[in-house]
Amino acid sequence: MKLLVIGSGGREHALAWRLTQNPKVQCVYVAPGNAGTAREDGLVNVNITAIPELLKFAQDEKIHLTVVGPEAPLAAGVVDAFQAAGLRIFGPSQRAAQLESSKDFAKQFMVRHKIPTAKYATFTSAAEARAYVEREGAPIVIKADGLAAGKGVVVAMTLGDALEAIDKMFATDSPSPPAPLPQEGEGGRRAAQAGRGEVRVVIEEFMEGEEASFICMCDGVHALPFASSQDHKRIFDGDQGPNTGGMGAYSPAPVVTPEVHARTMREVIMPTLRGMAAEGAPFTGFLYAGLMIDENGKPRVVEFNARMGDPETQPIMMRLKSDFLTLIEHAIDGKLNQIEAEWDRRAALGVVMAAANYPEAPTKGDEITGLPKPADDARVFHAGSADKDGKVVTSGGRVLCVTALGDTVKIAQQRAYQLLEPIRFNGMQYRRDIGYRAIGRRP
Ligand code: AMP
Ligand code: GLY
Repeated sequence: MKLLVIGSGGREHALAWRLTQNPKVQCVYVAPGNAGTAREDGLVNVNITAIPELLKFAQDEKIHLTVVGPEAPLAAGVVDAFQAAGLRIFGPSQRAAQLESSKDFAKQFMVRHKIPTAKYATFTSAAEARAYVEREGAPIVIKADGLAAGKGVVVAMTLGDALEAIDKMFATDSPSPPAPLPQEGEGGRRAAQAGRGEVRVVIEEFMEGEEASFICMCDGVHALPFASSQDHKRIFDGDQGPNTGGMGAYSPAPVVTPEVHARTMREVIMPTLRGMAAEGAPFTGFLYAGLMIDENGKPRVVEFNARMGDPETQPIMMRLKSDFLTLIEHAIDGKLNQIEAEWDRRAALGVVMAAANYPEAPTKGDEITGLPKPADDARVFHAGSADKDGKVVTSGGRVLCVTALGDTVKIAQQRAYQLLEPIRFNGMQYRRDIGYRAIGRRP
């Protein structure tokens, strides 16, 4: 049988590679894919991205099943379009994908269904925002929406910093936000929301704790939790510098203890599935709760994503031992309560190698050399890479994710950095400390 994976990132490389492991699968098409998917056994790139063309391709090629990687096609209704044409596809409908595509919808949904998250308020006037912050005090979180999007999220530890952030975000003479970063969920989305009219600023209660990515497969009613994971969002070591789509990730995340896991299922995931179903938008697909876990093990939602995480998917797929296609088939058929997922007991860790000037304006077209051959316990997933005159060159912000398994996070870390050693491209940037929090907990 033939399958189709939509997307071009490291996440899609890992998903598609995992799908080829099923002996019944002849070929997995990746649309549009990258230089890594072009070289992987069993994968074939198809250079299409528009929904009507994807639909026609799936019909012409008699694709058995399609899996959607990124948020943009979900928010554009790819699942609705395929289903209306009678095609099998795994992902949330456009309405269900609002959990990610509309922050307002997600926040109001969480309030309606008593799902723990930070208290928040939205402002279109600097004076009102300032008055609110003066009342609430610091620390407090200021998030740009709308026109101020390029200026991102400010976690203000003092009242002064909070007021300054508000003034900056509302400043009318400020430069316009940077262009959207292709393939980067968060940056792209924020920037894409920009330019739709007035400046909107969301002010949120500061949540203390440690973050984790809690990802489940969902069939509208049941949830099958995936192995826990954690990513590093900041560009520099020690979690410093601007936010990115993610500079590395590992699985499992020790902060997600069995108690935290049970609580998250009970207090976040199941109420979300029940709430979405009750509102007529049952959630089928990967549900990703970005959590903040406090010192008492209480999880609260920072944000929802309606897809798998990138780079979290890469270590998660390294650890998945069950047949991935069988899990997806159960999800599409509403039978996730009849199956378990089995995980490698080893830890997996992925280090992202990014292009020069990422995340602002990554350079493209630099040759990548020294790519190692894949091994059973270590492989390089490609993201922003392309073929040019027989060479592999950079073509986007995050270029590669070098991922390895090991008996502990520390061993997986050593193995990943060892694999990365010979890889070279102009201006490459990567963090040297991926996994440090997990290693600090469990050396
Ligand atoms: P977001 O783009 O909303 O996911 O936020 C980006 C990052 O800012 C998150 O991954 C957190 O590290 C931090 N952050 C966002 N909201 C909060 C909050 N309410 N409390 C503490 N940290 C936050
Ligand atoms: N790594 C964070 C995300 O995929 O949104």
